[in-house]
Amino acid sequence: MRRRPRSRPRSRPRSRPRSRLRLPVALFTVLATVATVAACDGGVHGTPGASGLRDPYFPKLGNGGYDVGHYALDLDYDPDTHHLSGTAEITATAGKALSAFNLDLRGLTVREVTVDGEKAVASRAGREVTVRPHDELPEGHTFRATVRYDGEPVTITDPDGTGEGWLRTADGALGLGEPTGSMAWFPGNHHPSDKATYDIRVTVPVGVQAVSNGELRRTKRSSDGRRTAYDWRMRQPMASYLATVAIGKFETERGRTPAGIPVYTAVDPDEAKASAKVLARLPEVLDWEAERFGAYPFSSTGAIVDRAGDVGYALETQTRPVFPVAPDVGLLVHELAHQWYGDSVTPKSWRDMWLNEGFATYAEWLWDEEHGGDTARQTFEAIMKRPASDGVWAFPPAEPPNAAHLSDSPVYERGAMVLQKVREAIGDTKFSALLKSWPTDHKYRCADTDDFTAYVERKNPGKGEALAGVWETWLYGNGKPESAS
Ligand code: TRP
Ligand code: ZN
Repeated sequence: MRRRPRSRPRSRPRSRPRSRLRLPVALFTVLATVATVAACDGGVHGTPGASGLRDPYFPKLGNGGYDVGHYALDLDYDPDTHHLSGTAEITATAGKALSAFNLDLRGLTVREVTVDGEKAVASRAGREVTVRPHDELPEGHTFRATVRYDGEPVTITDPDGTGEGWLRTADGALGLGEPTGSMAWFPGNHHPSDKATYDIRVTVPVGVQAVSNGELRRTKRSSDGRRTAYDWRMRQPMASYLATVAIGKFETERGRTPAGIPVYTAVDPDEAKASAKVLARLPEVLDWEAERFGAYPFSSTGAIVDRAGDVGYALETQTRPVFPVAPDVGLLVHELAHQWYGDSVTPKSWRDMWLNEGFATYAEWLWDEEHGGDTARQTFEAIMKRPASDGVWAFPPAEPPNAAHLSDSPVYERGAMVLQKVREAIGDTKFSALLKSWPTDHKYRCADTDDFTAYVERKNPGKGEALAGVWETWLYGNGKPESAS
């Protein structure tokens, strides 16, 4: 089985290089010195929380001063009118004494905000909602902010031209959040560094269903018999870009992996036939990955196959990845691998995205290697044959030039090449151990590139010099490396 990611544009168009432009070195230097976001978890009294976390690619994304622990979302959507009304109950802890704090929300109208049950003043400037609670929030105080909002949710065009946020489908809608789309359907701290648990209730007209992350706890018909509420619960921490809601008609199926993880799949009837065979392999793929990457970190798994307009990419939404059409096995391997690399251990900022995509791509290489296909080394060598002008060499995986290039092939394929070079530096045994221990030791948390390189060095004393060479040439080096060895 010989596959190259580029031969599957419909499955992963985002990994296609968009430009061969090489940016001046000076720009990389500037990016490298921009302050990065704080650690994964979230003074003097009475100061407002920051309106952004200074992500190098999306500076206004997320908010400072508090850390969300739980979102309880209660959404009501009607595909005919395209109207969404919602209540978001956000439980958060103040990291410092707060006179005000911000929430990210795009489009939609805020109707009312309360904090700990008391009416708060909310003001709006574009995507920033500033909430001024009746009483100041003391440092360390856990509070509950309740936001009532509604409107017609918007589709966001990414810096690279693709769609995310709220997408309409033939029979409903799909909420997708990477990298900034979740603010199109609920207010919150929409930076990957603030993870939280979720209860997501979606009420829809009878005749359509609603599917989300985690486990379906119950469904309830309204007293007039015209609407159904679907209650989903995601009990392990999740970054907001990994939340999803799929509304429409689906063929759903439940099962269990051989290791006992509950499976729930929801497939657009038009894609049901094409999806049946590959989704039947999901339990096998998940258990294979659990053997390679360590115990599966979540309490259920599955998949959503749903077509939203011309969205042609898959997304590793937590527990239940979304595919625009029936995936092939390689893409299934990729999105399920993200459950460890990206979902359980999440990037501290969007600069660290190669940690998601490099690992998920490497998982495909490993799958091929162990299923009668090319070895990872052969896949690596095939990429080395590409000319120096190829997009894969356009920039170092750890330093995408700007947000428009976050999903280009250096982040995916060259990210995976970094891992192949790590494997060759430390040997197969230590590399297998690393594939497990990296996500296990950072389970439900966040990590950045420096955390990763320091971790690999710590776990492999004596290999410091070889690893330094890998970082310099493969992770941070500009252009095509001269030799593959
Ligand atoms: N993470 C997705 C994958 O590899 C691709 C993707 C979807 C993406 N939306 C994105 C990548 C936004 C970067 C930015 O399967
Ligand atoms: Zn991916």
